[in-house]
Formats: sequence, C-alpha cells, structure tokens
Amino acid sequence: MKRVLVGTGVILSSVGLMVGCATGSTTTAQTDLDALAERTLRESFLPGPGQYLSRLQQDEAQKLCTQYRGQPPKPVAESIEAKEKSHIAYPADGKLMGDWKEGAKVFNNGFAYRIGHFIPSNPKAVRGGNCYACHQGEAKEVAYGNLGPSLLHYGKVRGTGDAVVRYTYEKIYNAKAYNACSQMPRLGHHGILSPKQIADLTAYLLSPESPINQ
Ligand code: HEC
Repeated sequence: MKRVLVGTGVILSSVGLMVGCATGSTTTAQTDLDALAERTLRESFLPGPGQYLSRLQQDEAQKLCTQYRGQPPKPVAESIEAKEKSHIAYPADGKLMGDWKEGAKVFNNGFAYRIGHFIPSNPKAVRGGNCYACHQGEAKEVAYGNLGPSLLHYGKVRGTGDAVVRYTYEKIYNAKAYNACSQMPRLGHHGILSPKQIADLTAYLLSPESPINQ
C-alpha cells in the first residue's frame, strides 16, 4: 500500500505540472487529479478477501479535514474532537496504566494495519502500534521516524498524574480526540489495538521504570 501511495504521488505531481502549463486553470485540473488519485488507489487493490476497499471511504472527520486542508476553523475542529472523544472505550478493569513490559512489545511491533493481516483464517495475528515509524522512543533505538514528536523521557517530563494518564491513553486510542486533523493513526478507534494494549502502551510511556524514561 505504501508503495502504491508513493507511486500515486509521482504520477500526480507530473500530471499536475502538465495540466498547469497547458491550461492555467486549477479548479477543473484539481478535480481531474482528485478523480485520478481516487481511481488509481481503488485499482491498486486486488479483488477478493482481505483487501479492505472500505478503508478508502473517508469518515466524517476525514472529509472535513480534506475540505479544510487539515486546518478547519476552530468550531469545526472542536466538534470533530468532541465526537471522536465520545467513542473512546476503556479497559474493562478501568486501569489506564497497564504493564509497561507488554507495552514495549506493542510499541516495537511493526505489524499494524497491514492488508492480509485481517484475513479471517488468521485470527491470531497479533497487531502492534508501529510507533517507531513516526516517533523516537528508547534512547538505544536509533532507527525511528520523525513525523511525530520524540517520546523519549515522555513520563519523566510529565509525571504520572491522573490527567496525564488519561490524556496519554485517550491520545493513543484516538489522536483526533485532541487534534482534529492529526496524522497519527486512530489505533483504538479502528480496532488496530485493544484497550488492554493501549493501557500497556500508556504504562510504557509513563512508568518511571520504563526504558523510555531512562
Ligand atoms: C503515522 C505516524 C504516527 C504513528 C504510527 C504514531 N504516531 Fe503518535 N503522533 C504522531 C503525530 C504526527 C503526533 C503529533 C500530532 C498530534 O498530536 O496529533 C503524535 C502524537 C503522539 C502523542 C502525543 C505527544 C504529546 O506530547 O502530547 C503520543 C503520546 C503518541 N503520539 C503516541 C504514539 C504511540 C504510543 C504510537 C504507537 C502505538 C504512535 N504514537 C504512533 C504520529 C504518529
């Protein structure tokens, strides 16, 4: 999927240049490009089980973020955040700080929302958060992305007060609950991670014993 997205970007930018030079009109050109992007993405999925074409349907929050190019007016942003927050589920035992050692595994596990992972014949596939794709974590790990802020010393800086614990759990569950057009995947909201896994991640980020805070 990633490769397809990169490919589409290349196609789009070259078509964009051509259209821009030939006509000078952007509105129709943009509509054509949007349609081309949509079609290219759609056609890159194979027919059959496990292809999850439904993932291409934007939900209400995504539609608004596209409409406002990621920067909706304040009242729109606030209504998105309130709605996203209202869907957050919590662990059955109510504990938002789980086991940091388990959280370390989830943080490190790159098997997130991969096509093929949800094929019903493979119900035991354990999913992870792929957090290193976007965040710095433990000091000893040198391979990490920087789309998101560094999480090194996350708990050391913030402490473990109730408000911090709740924010951390809810942010990982649904990043849009605090930032309407966040680029961070909504890991709990989409059922990629369970409430228990998210509580374990919360402990991994916040516990004083966690390697993140050394
Ligand atoms: C695709 C990239 C991406 C992935 C994967 C990702 N994040 Fe993020 N994350 C972001 C971005 C971007 C931000 C900052 C914008 C925002 O707050 O929404 C962020 C913000 C956060 C914050 C808030 C930080 C603060 O100082 O308030 C936490 C906590 C966090 N991420 C934890 C995680 C954890 C844990 C995982 C793995 C389960 C994860 N993220 C996976 C992109 C990502």
